[in-house]
Amino acid sequence: MLGRDVEHAAREVGHEPIALARSELDITDRAALEQAVIEHRPGAVVNCAAWTNVDGAEEHEAEATEVNGAGAGNVAAAAAAVGASVVHPSTDYVFDGAREEGYVESDEVNPISGYGRSKLAGERAVAAANPRHWIVRSSWLFGVNGRNFVETMLGLAQDRDEVVVVRDQVGCPTYTGHLAAGLVRLLDAEQYGVHHMASGGRCSWYDFAVEIFNQAGVDCRVLSMTSDMLERPAPRPAFSVLLSERAHPVLLPDWHDGLAEYLAERAGTEVRA
Ligand SMILES: NC(=O)c1ccc[n+]([C@@H]2O[C@H](COP(=O)([O-])OP(=O)(O)OC[C@H]3O[C@@H](n4cnc5c(N)ncnc54)[C@H](OP(=O)(O)O)[C@@H]3O)[C@@H](O)[C@H]2O)c1
Repeated sequence: MLGRDVEHAAREVGHEPIALARSELDITDRAALEQAVIEHRPGAVVNCAAWTNVDGAEEHEAEATEVNGAGAGNVAAAAAAVGASVVHPSTDYVFDGAREEGYVESDEVNPISGYGRSKLAGERAVAAANPRHWIVRSSWLFGVNGRNFVETMLGLAQDRDEVVVVRDQVGCPTYTGHLAAGLVRLLDAEQYGVHHMASGGRCSWYDFAVEIFNQAGVDCRVLSMTSDMLERPAPRPAFSVLLSERAHPVLLPDWHDGLAEYLAERAGTEVRA
């Protein structure tokens, strides 16, 4: 989902991105990564490959960590070997969600799920392997090239006139088109380290669902429930709004605008190649 938008955003500003699918490059294969960077000689590597099945990572944490932890470190090390910097997307799930004021970059991490732990392992591996790194935590992604909450809601509304959505998880839904452009902007400055980059504003999943139907002009009632009523293997942070303490953060548009752009893009193109 994010990878295709990064490819597009990079091309838009004049870079020459080389986008590799999993079938072309497995990030757990160090030798293949080394070969790829020698072949392509990138100036920067943006690692959009990840194990993103949050619930699946509860039962398969070791496999998730192989990709999100060791794999991420491999990418950063391979980039360093050819003098390239690395952009590493990470997640609000490295936090426990107990802090209602939101989280800035230096706040203490404390993941509560296998996925969150695997992503934190990746942050640490990337920082250790390549000093020229941008670790960019974002949240609640939706984009036209992947399965996401907006599509789930619109799909459900096709066969029912009401849905039930959790109201006690608050975060920042972020359009991958906006995030991708933000990641590419980072390449212009040497502000290495951890960055928080999510859409402006905040909402619960319930609020998000209401706004999706509102903007899409779909008549579907949204009822609310609490997370404990939804039995899912992985716990999610209750409050994971990402804020930045940086002097010059890359600010993304508000999530309402991200949703509007997403719906417009979706109406124009099914999948962006
Ligand atoms: N989605 C969110 O809400 C969210 C929120 C915050 C941060 N993030 C982070 O943002 C990044 C992009 O997420 P996304 O939602 O765009 O993910 P996505 O759509 O699930 O894409 C992940 C890609 O990684 C590939 N992949 C998995 N294992 C691989 C391996 N060993 N080698 C090479 N490729 C591999 C997957 O291939 P297959 O499809 O073939 O498995 C898939 O194409 C990730 O780092 C994620 O942790 C996501």
